[in-house]
Amino acid sequence: MVRKPIIGGNWKMNRGTPEDSKEMLESLIPLVLEINSVDIVIVVPFTVLTTVSKLLNGTNIKLGAQNMYFEDKGAYTGEVSPRFLKAIGVEYVILGHSERRDIFNESDSLINKKLKKALSLDLKPIVCIGEHLEEREAGKTKDIITYQINETFKALTKEEMIKTVIAYEPIWAIGTGKTATPEQAEEIHIFIREYINQKFDRDTADSIRIQYGGSVKPTNAEDLFKKKNIDGGLVGGASLETNSFYQIINAAALTIK
Ligand code: 13P
Repeated sequence: MVRKPIIGGNWKMNRGTPEDSKEMLESLIPLVLEINSVDIVIVVPFTVLTTVSKLLNGTNIKLGAQNMYFEDKGAYTGEVSPRFLKAIGVEYVILGHSERRDIFNESDSLINKKLKKALSLDLKPIVCIGEHLEEREAGKTKDIITYQINETFKALTKEEMIKTVIAYEPIWAIGTGKTATPEQAEEIHIFIREYINQKFDRDTADSIRIQYGGSVKPTNAEDLFKKKNIDGGLVGGASLETNSFYQIINAAALTIK
């Protein structure tokens, strides 16, 4: 089973003016033009989706949003409709990032509603799961992952599951410089894939893409992506600068399995 690796650059709230978005993308676009073996997604703040959508038009880089609401329209001040995202060329959307879960109290059931909505509109979801440091230290990582998969992916069909990208992001590795070792990450990726096999079937488990996220850097990307069950990465800090992000994309292209 060949799964196309996917590299997402999650800018979080770090880049997001038209000027700084343009500056980076104008240097990145020509560098990655020939890389077609990897799905490349730039996930930017709402404020620059339109600007970035125009910049990416006709390139091989896809556009992603960092969040969405689960209704089409209505009195939801401050929220963004998935239909608005579709209308400006957004293809991917991150759902359930640990920063949304921890800082903005997003629950698994809310993420499940958003996920079903995104899938119904053909937006490609990147759903984040992962444990806190205390949970890992207490030996609860697999229990947490099991719970998150059960709740977040509740009532999804096999076809919907295959269209979903999972990002395993151990929270203790995000923005800390402390990466999970390739072995630690692979162990959980295998666990996730086998659990999906149990809940769905072998074909679904073998088809679904599972990215790793948490301090992915040019120095560790290749070793992580070499692992059989790691299908690319969701990158925060190192996606903010052309050279480091390009090197990570290249590492994914060089380690196609
Ligand atoms: P860092 O790469 O900065 O650790 O962030 C990872 C992340 O949260 C991507 O969504």
